[in-house]
Amino acid sequence: MSSESPSLNKPKHLKYWTRCLKTYLPHAYIANDSMRMTLAFFIVSALDLLDCLKSHTTEAERKDYVDWIYHCQHPHGGFRGFPATDFGELRNETNAPWDPANLPATYFALATLIILGDDLQRVRRRACLKWLAEMQRPDGSFGETLGENGVIEGGMDTRFGYCAGGVRYILRGLVDGPVEGVKDIEVDKLVWCIRGSETYDGGISEAPFHEAHAGFTYCAIGCLSFLDRLPHGAKAKRQDAPENNIPITGLSNLDITIRWLVSRQTMTLDEEDAVDTRMDETDTAATCHDAHSFVKMGSFISTAGELSYKDRPSTPTQLQWAGFNGRCNKIADTCYAFWAGGSLGILNKVHLIDHTANRRYLLEKTQHMVGGFGKQPADPPDVYHSYLGLAALALVDEPGVKPISPTLCVSKDALRHLEGLPWRRKVEAGDAASAQARGTDTLAVREGAVEGKYAAMSGG
Ligand SMILES: *[C@@H]1O[C@H](CO)[C@@H](O)[C@H](O)[C@H]1NC(C)=O
Repeated sequence: MSSESPSLNKPKHLKYWTRCLKTYLPHAYIANDSMRMTLAFFIVSALDLLDCLKSHTTEAERKDYVDWIYHCQHPHGGFRGFPATDFGELRNETNAPWDPANLPATYFALATLIILGDDLQRVRRRACLKWLAEMQRPDGSFGETLGENGVIEGGMDTRFGYCAGGVRYILRGLVDGPVEGVKDIEVDKLVWCIRGSETYDGGISEAPFHEAHAGFTYCAIGCLSFLDRLPHGAKAKRQDAPENNIPITGLSNLDITIRWLVSRQTMTLDEEDAVDTRMDETDTAATCHDAHSFVKMGSFISTAGELSYKDRPSTPTQLQWAGFNGRCNKIADTCYAFWAGGSLGILNKVHLIDHTANRRYLLEKTQHMVGGFGKQPADPPDVYHSYLGLAALALVDEPGVKPISPTLCVSKDALRHLEGLPWRRKVEAGDAASAQARGTDTLAVREGAVEGKYAAMSGG
């Protein structure tokens, strides 16, 4: 066991992110050019989490970033993933399908604008909400883009449901029902669609009968949080509502979902660990590497609805490093520290993970000497893993990193900025009388109630 505690090399991370922001990205990103909005989100948000956005960019630069994002806004609502498909004056009905708005890009564009302190006044809000409703399929799922003849294209998994829930939350807040005459998405159908992807072991998969995956699980739980349809959400608790008017909630068995998420923490950190634990090809169920998961079946007790450990290791003596995997029997990977940890953060259960061992894994195994985080030990850093490694640390009060909203995946400062926007408060107040279901709390309030809880529960 290392005696000195590991630390975040903040100057190197700042250098890494500033380089990503202000110089060309390495050639490996060429294939990601159509996702430039997503890369922009990671880079700007990382500097915000490091509390250095204002000190490392000028006001003029931040204004340019905001203008660039609005330049990617689509004439019929939503945002493009990058500017290259914009035909400008040459746009016509024939070439329009080649220049669609993109749902994930729209979520990342809005989130980045919020981080940059923009008031979203230039967002074509009505058009965007109208387009959003058109992006939903009859089964409740959302797609990525709208193709020719209004065909919804792209995947059907929870990633798009998450982005849809996020765009909806940012632009219409807590209002159920129409906003300025624009109809809402079919929230119940979206919740049923998520329920359809639940797996027998408590996770959530890409589609019904697939294998549970921490990324899809995060997106599902994040989406339900945006919609306030988690089992313990305010809407779920409305006692006064008539029987047939109580909204359905997602996650049919919260306890096993939490157990599945906590079980993603593993000591299997590289392929060598994974192949053959005994080095003699005689691995059994007891020695195969998921046995490295230190959460054993039956180690939870549930009292009065509260899960806790019955026999949690009292000191993490063997758990010098324990990262997170995304599926059973896989090796640890930086990003799942957030996909699993963030899910638990939303569910107010982040104290159940072994934070010390996870922090050592991130800071001693995947933090890179040039800054950023790699996917696995010795991997070079990339924008995606570097952001999610940082976000995972932000979940558990890492010194020098701002607290994060686990649902929105941006700093709590940015979330508070969003919820304080005067036009947004007006939308909520203005529609209050006609809205079907009120009496629920903003994300900041729901997540704020959790603030300090991690410290309180892990300190003792
Ligand atoms: C639309 O624009 C494309 C490319 O600029 C052009 O080739 C095409 O003829 C135009 N179509 C119509 C119907 O104007």
